[in-house]
Amino acid sequence: MKPHKIKTIGVLTGGGDCPGLNAVIRAVAKAAQAKYDLAVWGIEDGYLGLIENHMRQLHPPDVSGILTVGGTILGTSNTSDPFHFAIRKNGSEEYADVSALCIENLRKHGIDALICIGGDGTMKTAAKFAKMGMPIMGVPKTIDNDLVGTDVTFGFDTAVTTATEAIDKLHTTASSHHRIMIVEVMGRYAGWIALYAGMAGGADVILLPEMPYRLDKIEQCVRQRAGHGKRFSIICVAEGAMEKGGQMVVGRRIKGSPDPIRLGGIANKLQYDIQKRTDIEARAVILGHTQRGGTPTPYDRVLATNFGYTAISLLMEHGVKNHLVVFKNNEYSSIPLSQVAGKIKNVPKDHPLIKAALAIKTSFGV
Ligand code: F6P
Repeated sequence: MKPHKIKTIGVLTGGGDCPGLNAVIRAVAKAAQAKYDLAVWGIEDGYLGLIENHMRQLHPPDVSGILTVGGTILGTSNTSDPFHFAIRKNGSEEYADVSALCIENLRKHGIDALICIGGDGTMKTAAKFAKMGMPIMGVPKTIDNDLVGTDVTFGFDTAVTTATEAIDKLHTTASSHHRIMIVEVMGRYAGWIALYAGMAGGADVILLPEMPYRLDKIEQCVRQRAGHGKRFSIICVAEGAMEKGGQMVVGRRIKGSPDPIRLGGIANKLQYDIQKRTDIEARAVILGHTQRGGTPTPYDRVLATNFGYTAISLLMEHGVKNHLVVFKNNEYSSIPLSQVAGKIKNVPKDHPLIKAALAIKTSFGV
């Protein structure tokens, strides 16, 4: 399909929600309507809306006043893979490829290109639709900041801000009770949120999935602080962190999700391990989905708006398709979806922030 033939686009948000999704929807729809005279359809609940044909046309009032609103006006789903979709048949569950039905539903509304806003699971599926001939532009969303090819994803800054505010609050109660507070943050298999929030909140120990920790090293840090009169400590732990030689703590498994594993609970384990070693009372605080909620920070609003605008302008003016919009070295551009799908951007062990943290005596438990 030639880009100048595009008259109608669809937009969907897939995977876990994240602050800034509405800012992208708003930018895509406003630019598509005002600058390129396109009709815009919103697909409800991610790929589930494609399967069940739940879509509605978005008019200018629908995307007005949503810049600062968290979540997604379109709804989302992280358990609806059109290429492996659970169907109930004769009382039992079977999996089917319903991707052709999705394309048929898109055609019914005259949708000839799709803007998919999501993380790696959403991009994996988007890449498969691209192979079927549907022009796609991906927009990188996730609080985890773990998508390859882009320096940052929108939602990350807001999550770090929320986690930092929590650490700030925990400092005073930790200090009053002379406790060790263990703050667990999200991030899946990558430690970006823990690294940034830990640094910003002045955590004494930061534990990342990329650097399996040793309990004796954490104990050493806490004892050294006590030796200097600091009778409390703050540990910021990523949900994917693990003890050296140990395993990540799995919170639950979600049937039908592209990645069924949900991490969570390492802080609960650590509070007992550390209290036993140090004899200092330790408490776990799991921040969980608070990190995904609320209004996006100004940084995320700007990033999300630029991502949305870049996606639509690359599609309409430069004929780019089947790409993910990225922000790299302070510039907006795009890379093929095929370069992203199924990969994770981890924190490199030689990241400048790790060097800085080590220099100011922050422990990584190694
Ligand atoms: O990918 C975003 C994220 O919030 C992760 O940090 C977390 O591991 C996961 O999603 C939680 O997923 P759910 O909303 O299904 O519990």
